[in-house]
Amino acid sequence: MRPRHFLTLNDLSRDELDFVLRRARELKALQHAGTPHESLRGKVLGMVFEKSSTRTRVSFEAGMAQLGGNAVFLSPRDSQLGRGEPVEDTARVLSRMLDAVMIRTFAHEILERFAAHSRVPVINGLSDDHHPCQLLADIQAFQEHRGDLDGHIVAWVGDGNNMCNSYIEAAGIFDFQLNIACPEGFEPDADLLAQAGNRVRVIRDPAKAVRDASLVVTDVWASMGQETEQAHRERAFAGYQVDEALMAQAAGDAVFMHCLPAHRGEEVSAGVIDGPQSVVWDEAENRLHAQKALLEFLLLDGNGRG
Ligand code: CP
Ligand code: NVA
Repeated sequence: MRPRHFLTLNDLSRDELDFVLRRARELKALQHAGTPHESLRGKVLGMVFEKSSTRTRVSFEAGMAQLGGNAVFLSPRDSQLGRGEPVEDTARVLSRMLDAVMIRTFAHEILERFAAHSRVPVINGLSDDHHPCQLLADIQAFQEHRGDLDGHIVAWVGDGNNMCNSYIEAAGIFDFQLNIACPEGFEPDADLLAQAGNRVRVIRDPAKAVRDASLVVTDVWASMGQETEQAHRERAFAGYQVDEALMAQAAGDAVFMHCLPAHRGEEVSAGVIDGPQSVVWDEAENRLHAQKALLEFLLLDGNGRG
């Protein structure tokens, strides 16, 4: 049987994502109660990191340990990937030894090539185009604070980057309106935008984009791999900071999210990220619970053993 992968949010159906999110809530309760939950005993996750990470690495590694399994960390510096071994060969070999592989890389196509040659589930831990694991955590956090996203307005303020693309997919699956406020030249993926239709609108003016929004989200102006563009991007994104004045234009009970790491004084003011509407710490914590649920789904339920 071909393994299920999680390269973008659309790899799982709405029903499957709802199942994972319900299980994430259960796993969070078990974890908080100190109740053992070793459903993946003996399983090993490989983690390939071609970019830096704090949350993704620690949440997957701690998550596997808490589920009774193990995680193996690999980077190009200490594996043959960095010395030119083809992705396809690496996929064939690693997937004969591991039960699942998480990859954080640059080109999304690397993930697709790896998955095409893997016998085990492959999880996108962030590519230049998507960050679906973060969306699981964001949706869980919204549900905890405001309930289901269906019918709500979400405002994305800032770069049309990997996170923004995953929000576009989420809008279609979870049935919310997404308003994107980005400067010209920093739009998200054109095909994703076209497929999304009226559900997703690019509204240049951040104040208009956040009107009636229940959730305001932003992310760094220069993503990993764009470090040399930092100064140019700071100029281009002037006026796109999520500050107290902008939050005041959103719905009165709006929450603020940011996948982190954040740059206070650039894409978000300290007053917002450290203020009462911010749920960024719950959002970050949920990476652990949501990914544990995802791992269970891909290794057990999603492959006919649930
Ligand atoms: N949000 C997120 O993916 O964080 P890391 O880069 O620290 O993994
Ligand atoms: N857009 C950011 C997200 C980091 C978690 C980046 O790709 O660097």
